[in-house]
Amino acid sequence: MTLRGFTAKRVATCDPARGSLEDAAVVLDGSHIAYVGPRAGAPPGAALVDVGDRVVTPGLVDAHTHACWVGSRHAEYAVRMAGGDYRDIATAGGGILSSYRAVAAATEGALTEALVGRLRRMATLGVTTVEVKSGYGLEPEHERKQLAAIARAAASLDVPAVVPTFLALHALPPGVDRAAYVAHVAEVLVPQVAREARARFVDAYVDANAFTVAEARAVGEAARAHGLGVRLHVGQFADIGGAELAAELGAASVDHVEHISPAGIDALARAGVAAVLLPVASFTLGQPPPPVAALLDAGVSLVVASDANPGTAPTESLPLALALAVRAYGMTPDEALLAATRHAAASLGLSDRGVLRAGARADLVVWDLPHEHAIVQPWGVARAYAVTVAGVDVVSPR
Ligand code: NIG
Ligand code: FE
Repeated sequence: MTLRGFTAKRVATCDPARGSLEDAAVVLDGSHIAYVGPRAGAPPGAALVDVGDRVVTPGLVDAHTHACWVGSRHAEYAVRMAGGDYRDIATAGGGILSSYRAVAAATEGALTEALVGRLRRMATLGVTTVEVKSGYGLEPEHERKQLAAIARAAASLDVPAVVPTFLALHALPPGVDRAAYVAHVAEVLVPQVAREARARFVDAYVDANAFTVAEARAVGEAARAHGLGVRLHVGQFADIGGAELAAELGAASVDHVEHISPAGIDALARAGVAAVLLPVASFTLGQPPPPVAALLDAGVSLVVASDANPGTAPTESLPLALALAVRAYGMTPDEALLAATRHAAASLGLSDRGVLRAGARADLVVWDLPHEHAIVQPWGVARAYAVTVAGVDVVSPR
């Protein structure tokens, strides 16, 4: 395998031991990184492209998306902007149920195609790993169809790596008995999804007007018993104890947490549960930020993700989420970048990416920007100049 790579004015490694380097080289050996360091020390014979004043970073990791959907919720958005309440719309059969109807009516092929399109566009924004949840199928056959579509999309060659999550409790499909539905999900579906290796994580929406702690515990315990990790939607509208449940289950993450108590924050810190912040969702819903400073003070690892979904976060852009994390959540540009690289990868159980270091996966972005702090400004357009996923160029220099 011939060694190849880039030399650049600046390389942000996101590696705590290295920080950012000036006048550096990143050398790839196939799907892995062979060298990160001063230009002069690069292995001889490597084919190096000089990208000038641009900055190189690890590929971004989007650790929370609902990117496998079809249909459109534009009518509901207009109602919400005119004062309609997200949860009232959901109670009246809109919201998640509106996407459920579109997903239930769609073929696996149509879902795959929609997801592949989104993943390709995410790559142009600098994203190289994407967590994708099911959760719009709701009924067992349609959840399984969604997970099958996620697996098919993941097998495409020119897309970011995909980490599939079974969003087991998102909303009740019409006409089911609540207790029987939750029991079937916990006792039948979770074991089946684990056996078929269709997901690495199980998620549940723990909130007022969604699912209770007891319901989510049943599903989370089933996930753990079958070797799957747990991520939970927690405290988007109300704190009902989801953070404490996540700590009890040894979950990988709690996501949203606009509403969380000091005891909940403590529980996360003690159990090593990451907090995944979703600023596009709170922006779209007009909500105040989560307690970012308290989470940081407690030593909770912070992740920022897009929440890409047709209702609360109609975007595919993790850089937009980072811009809002800095502007609206008060995170520093360095905290935001780590939250979308090393911390995001760790929350997905991936230690082979999110940093530029020898031996890591060759997932990287050359930005058409001079410094990593420039990434978190609200550009509204793609600023990635070159993007490589496991050594494959998915965006090539223009
Ligand atoms: O992360 N909170 C629940 N789930 C999604 C929204 C789903 C939807 O509105 O379609 C979220 O915000
Ligand atoms: Fe979500």
